[in-house]
Parts: sequence; structure tokens; C-alpha cells
Amino acid sequence: MKQLVISAFGGPEQLTLVEAEHPPLAANQLRLKMLYAGVNPIDAKTRAGLGWGAQAIKDSLPWSPGFEVMGEVLEVGSEVCRFLPGDRAFGLVRGGAYSEELVVNCDEMMPLPDEVPDDMAAGLALAGTTAWQGLTRHGALQAGERILISAAAGGVGHLAVQLARGLGATVVALASSGNHDFVKGLGADEVVDYHDEAAVAAIEPVDLLLDLVGGTSGESLVSQVKPSGRVVTVPTITADKVIAAAKARGLNATGMLKESDSEQLAMLAKAVAEGRLRVEVSQVFDLADGAEAHRQIEAGHTRGKLLLRG
Ligand SMILES: NC(=O)c1ccc[n+]([C@@H]2O[C@H](COP(=O)([O-])OP(=O)(O)OC[C@H]3O[C@@H](n4cnc5c(N)ncnc54)[C@H](OP(=O)(O)O)[C@@H]3O)[C@@H](O)[C@H]2O)c1
Repeated sequence: MKQLVISAFGGPEQLTLVEAEHPPLAANQLRLKMLYAGVNPIDAKTRAGLGWGAQAIKDSLPWSPGFEVMGEVLEVGSEVCRFLPGDRAFGLVRGGAYSEELVVNCDEMMPLPDEVPDDMAAGLALAGTTAWQGLTRHGALQAGERILISAAAGGVGHLAVQLARGLGATVVALASSGNHDFVKGLGADEVVDYHDEAAVAAIEPVDLLLDLVGGTSGESLVSQVKPSGRVVTVPTITADKVIAAAKARGLNATGMLKESDSEQLAMLAKAVAEGRLRVEVSQVFDLADGAEAHRQIEAGHTRGKLLLRG
């Protein structure tokens, strides 16, 4: 089976398509034919040798990226598992989704309602759980509150806009002007071009900032939060700086690392099945073209999600 791997940290050209052994199947696992794998900024950061992801794999190269997958079950281990061959499954994995076939723990995969298209499911697990946990577990968003979401047109942001509206919040979204109609169509109440500093400064104070850009953007956006407000900064590499800027203004601030949660995956899939949540898939690449997908995600202007096709 074909697999996209890196043998050393570096640029997108490090991604090489190789012929790999079929991994063995343990009793509590299932073998999945990958139909789609999500491409996320963490994949590119880890490939480049940055952050916690690279620290975790630096001694076990070669490594295949990919932390979310949708596929068809080929084989199940001997232990009782809710899946049968032929079922559709999706979920978060610990790397290796850039593979035609992968072996995953049964309890980390969720079945898919028939109404959820394959590609939407592939883009839902990582961005969806991040958005949901950022809004609720870390952000404690309440109905009637105002929330500011940066990178609102991106993978996490476009789901966060819809989920925040569903929670009854007033959503202020930051996006470049070419994405304004898209973000309004997702339900944002106010959309502001982040290139227009005066317009950003004029935003009425918000209760919660969901910072999806980090760095100087996150540090400056804390000024738009009410004195008693909260900040959740999602990019981990710059979290300390954004938290320090928020705390200097007396705000409650936290970073986060999304966790796999099967109940949340089921809730997100149900929302898609019922038409309450839409996953925008802007482009699908063949597995062999993973380097091109990495160039695109690194450019930082993806609308919705990028996927690889198995
Ligand atoms: N901690 C965790 O557990 C966790 C989980 C998931 C993601 N993350 C991190 O969260 C961040 C967002 O992830 P993602 O998948 O949503 O990224 P993404 O899809 O690559 O985000 C792309 C979006 O960013 C917007 N953008 C770029 N620069 C901006 C700026 N200065 N201000 C406002 N928007 C800007 C772009 O908007 P325009 O095209 O309109 O310019 C584009 O729509 C990444 O750093 C990722 O690594 C962390």
C-alpha cells in the first residue's frame, strides 16, 4: 500500500510516496481503507520540525502525517467492535492518515450517519472538536454573549462560526473581504476585514475571543475583549505570548489542545446529518500531491478544509 512519509524535517518536498507494509491488526483495532484524510496546519508544522508534534516524533522517523481520517472498514480485530467490514467510519488518529490503508483503535473511530458525505466527514473530526472544545470547555460560551472569531473562514473558524451561532451567541468574524459572503452565509452577525485596523479597533467589545491566528494578531485582538472577558488562543506555538497579553489586561486566558472525544464526534456528525453544520471542502488532492496540499495550507488562506484522497 502507498503511504506519504517524511524521513527528515523540512519543506513540503520532504513528503515522499513510498510502498509500505500492511500494518498488523490487534484485537481491539480495525483496518481502514482511507477514502479521505484531512490536511491541517499541524501536519505542516510537524513536517517542518516545529512545535510539540515534531518533538513527539523526532526519534521515530520516517513518519506519515495525518491526524484525521474517513474511510471504509476492511477488517476488524477479534475483540467485539461496533464496526463490520464495509461500514463507514471517521475520527482522529495519532498520525498516519496519509496512507491508503491504516490500522486504528476501534474506540477512536465513530460510525457515520448515511446523510453525512464522505468528504465532509473527513474534514470534521479535528477542526470540529477543536472548535467545539474551544467554544464550550475552554471558552464557556453562553447564549447571548458576543464572540470574536479570527480566521473565521478557515478550517476551525468556519465550523466555530456555525457552532457559536447554534449556541445562541452573537458572532463577530474576522476574514479578508473575499471571504465575507462565505462567512455571512455561515451565520456570522458581523464580518470585519482584519486588514482594516480601524474597522477592527471599532468592533464593540466581546465577551470571548477565539483566537485562531495567534502571534501578534492574537496579542492585538485581546484589546477588543470586555474587561471581564475571556480569551482562548488555539495555536499552541504562540499561546504563551497571547495569554500574557490577555492577562496584562486582566482577562481570563487559556491555550488548549483538542482531545479526542467520541461523544463530541457523534454530536458533530449528527449536526451535519441534520443540516445544522456544513463542512466546506475547498480542495481535494490525490495522495501523491500531498506536497502541494502542504504548500497551500502553509500559505494560510485556506477556505474551509483541504483533503487528500486515498
Ligand atoms: N490547539 C489545538 O488543539 C489546535 C487544533 C486545531 C488547530 N490549531 C491551530 O489553530 C490555527 C487555525 O487552524 P485552521 O485549521 O483553522 O487553519 P487554516 O484553515 O489554515 O486557517 C486559514 C484561515 O486563516 C485566515 N487568516 C490568515 N491570517 C489571518 C489573520 N492575520 N487574521 C485573521 N485571519 C487570518 C485566512 O483567512 P483569509 O483567507 O480570509 O485571509 C484563512 O481563511 C492553526 O494555527 C492550527 O495549527 C490548534
